[in-house]
Amino acid sequence: MKMFLLAGFMSVGLLLTGGDANPPQVKLYRRRGEDVLLPCRLAPGLDPDTVWVRWKSSKDSYLTSGVRVLKYTNQIEVVKTSKIEWNLLIKSVTDTFAANYTCTSDQQVVLSNVQLLILVAPKIDYGGTSSPEVNVDEGGTVELTCAFTGEPVPNITWFRGADKQPTGITGSKLVLPDVKRYATDVYTCRGENSVSNEDHQINLIVRFPVEVDVMENTVYVKRGGIFTLACIAQGAPLYETYWIDVHGNKVMSTTWKYDFNMESAGAHIPAKFVTLASRTGALTVFDFGPYTCEAKGDGRVAKATVNVVELKELN
Ligand SMILES: *[C@@H]1O[C@H](CO)[C@@H](O)[C@H](O)[C@H]1NC(C)=O
Ligand SMILES: *[C@@H]1O[C@H](CO)[C@@H](O)[C@H](O)[C@H]1NC(C)=O
Repeated sequence: MKMFLLAGFMSVGLLLTGGDANPPQVKLYRRRGEDVLLPCRLAPGLDPDTVWVRWKSSKDSYLTSGVRVLKYTNQIEVVKTSKIEWNLLIKSVTDTFAANYTCTSDQQVVLSNVQLLILVAPKIDYGGTSSPEVNVDEGGTVELTCAFTGEPVPNITWFRGADKQPTGITGSKLVLPDVKRYATDVYTCRGENSVSNEDHQINLIVRFPVEVDVMENTVYVKRGGIFTLACIAQGAPLYETYWIDVHGNKVMSTTWKYDFNMESAGAHIPAKFVTLASRTGALTVFDFGPYTCEAKGDGRVAKATVNVVELKELN
């Protein structure tokens, strides 16, 4: 009998504890300028005629006492659609109202917990973001990082190139180990949340020493004929590219004797296609011999030579 009573008492006790336990926190999202109604309903066992309810926020302490509004009187109202409801209406929310709200009865029973989050569009946070231009030596590891502020916390996705091709990489870091020169490109990180998205661009430059390659090592030409010499120079950085003729003269523009031409040879990497052509009738017996294509990079000159050989007529 005694046991039976005790069991009955315990189950009542458990029920009460269940009612007294802090209710789960409700999350509400609002954009700036919108209204929000924070729900609060009396727990069973509280007498709606005598109970007295207060709202407080983690930022401002008590906001209401009964139906009286203590702060933000133009923006806050207690909305009682029934005797047991003590909802809090906040009109035209601003960032100030992003806080945790608690509705409590005078017996210290917590009736509701509401986290109000003010939606904020993603915005780049320069503090946690790589500089607009990142340089890395070829073969090294590079880490591009982006940080965004916003509410909800924006997710981040990475794109490559001017046309923003998806890379499939998400998160604040884009890590490229053993980076190759071809990785030189513009990279975009996009911060996105339910409000909107924002893009931020980072230029990655993979540095590598200058290199020069000639198309052919030997070119045969008749006396009085014309030759065209071609080379590809690449490097990051790549400063000057030019030809040194057989007489030791540096040629970097068209002259009476040569047509000089230079054009870009790489989509991403700094590469130049450099040609030197002799002009009709300008080639004499003294002009046969080595021609060198040179390119200047960081503290280094790369070169490659073409031998211009006289093509003798066979009798
Ligand atoms: C509100 O409560 C949550 C945990 O429930 C906490 O992470 C957050 O920082 C709180 N917000 C404020 C503004 O106090
Ligand atoms: C990022 O967030 C947006 C908006 O909430 C969502 O539509 C998108 O699917 C998310 N993307 C990823 C990769 O999580």
